[in-house]
Amino acid sequence: MGNTTQKRLIRKLELELFLSQIKSQPSPKVGLEQYTVSEVVAANMLYIAAYTNGDIVDKSVLDLGCGTGRLALAASYLGAQFVVGVDIDKTSIITASYNSDKSRPKTRVQWVLADISAVTGNFDTVLQNPPFGVQKRAADRKFLEKALEVGNVVYSLHNHPCVDKQLIRQLKANPSGLVQVEPSPFIEKFVESHSGVVKAVYAMLMTIPRMFDFHIKMKHDFVVDLYLIKKQERRK
Ligand SMILES: C[S@@+](CC[C@H](N)C(=O)[O-])C[C@H]1O[C@@H](n2cnc3c(N)ncnc32)[C@H](O)[C@@H]1O
Repeated sequence: MGNTTQKRLIRKLELELFLSQIKSQPSPKVGLEQYTVSEVVAANMLYIAAYTNGDIVDKSVLDLGCGTGRLALAASYLGAQFVVGVDIDKTSIITASYNSDKSRPKTRVQWVLADISAVTGNFDTVLQNPPFGVQKRAADRKFLEKALEVGNVVYSLHNHPCVDKQLIRQLKANPSGLVQVEPSPFIEKFVESHSGVVKAVYAMLMTIPRMFDFHIKMKHDFVVDLYLIKKQERRK
């Protein structure tokens, strides 16, 4: 899994291959909703951030709730200036550190074992796949709040608000695996009340292996929405 500072355009398949070599959570804790983002969703997210919007290459990037480091390491692979990954869970940070030793990123990647509430500073871009709040209600709100406090641009994954069979069919038929959808009115309002504005929302199909006792099937499919959020300039 050798890495060099990537300033050339990386193909999405190459990025997926890189991501597939990043070890996922060995003993996921249900209370922290520790599922690892799929390669396909992570690659789409990073691709939009890096190449559609220019928010990764040479930028300072923060991965909130980094888990085993997939989003952070992919940002470094694409040429972020430096990356910080933060997680409250010791096993996640140990695994992220193992993953970065193995992938030998050329840009600086720092892992921090902490609650996200301890994070301060200012970052060009925040990437996050927060707990959706299935186990602990509104767990994703705390992440949005912190991301908007310390980041200029935020890429945040959220559960799609309902099971929409037509959308699932559309996603399966679409080679890019992305469909632009409307934001949830609740998230949109929440973002606006924290000085942000939702610029776009992309639905994607996330497939993860069976991880928890309540997963009945060997594979678990669900729709996630990627929110692209910008911090609004303060009026003078
Ligand atoms: C859905 S997982 C995503 C992991 C990783 N970002 C990925 O996409 O593969 C959410 C992560 O947030 C972490 N987490 C939950 N609450 C946290 C908190 N208050 N502070 C820091 N990390 C937290 C969990 O330990 C878990 O690793």
